[in-house]
Amino acid sequence: MKAVLAGFVLLAMIGGAAAQTDLARVVTDRREGLRAVGQHMEALQAIARAGSDPRPAVERVEAVQRFFVNFGQRFPAGTQQGAPGIETRALPAIWSDRAGFDRAEAALGPRLAALREAAAGGSPQAFAQALQAAGAACGDCHRPYRAR
Ligand code: HEC
Repeated sequence: MKAVLAGFVLLAMIGGAAAQTDLARVVTDRREGLRAVGQHMEALQAIARAGSDPRPAVERVEAVQRFFVNFGQRFPAGTQQGAPGIETRALPAIWSDRAGFDRAEAALGPRLAALREAAAGGSPQAFAQALQAAGAACGDCHRPYRAR
């Protein structure tokens, strides 16, 4: 009986460790994706600063849009700052105020759509304005939900 129990405990421990590894993977993926998003945004800013034709920027905007599809699913329980085995700047506020986090995410979508339209439209001024609005939506989520 003791051996059986020990077996169960061992299995539970292995299961727990595997789950923790999966969560660490989710965090690595989301951070890599966000880093790429940051690089896209920097490249878009360079285009806006140069005041050049923004049409070549469409693909970058679309890459950012693709990343933010199902963004919320990249934040499962147990991936907040302070969780065991997790290296992240995701603040626990994401989970204690999920509605606010979801709203911040929802606010970005239309701004990225507008940014894509502005890039495709070819006006440097409209592009720069739309980029500023999109960038503000990034900051609106980072301030409450991302550690410095
Ligand atoms: C709905 C919330 C939300 C929105 C919108 C959002 N972010 Fe973030 N971002 C986060 C959170 C939370 C983290 C911390 C992730 C982590 O450390 O696990 C983060 C991290 C990052 C990082 C650091 C990645 C790393 O670990 O090196 C970059 C860069 C970044 N975001 C860029 C952006 C840009 C650019 C936008 C807008 C196009 C944006 N984010 C929009 C919530 C958001």
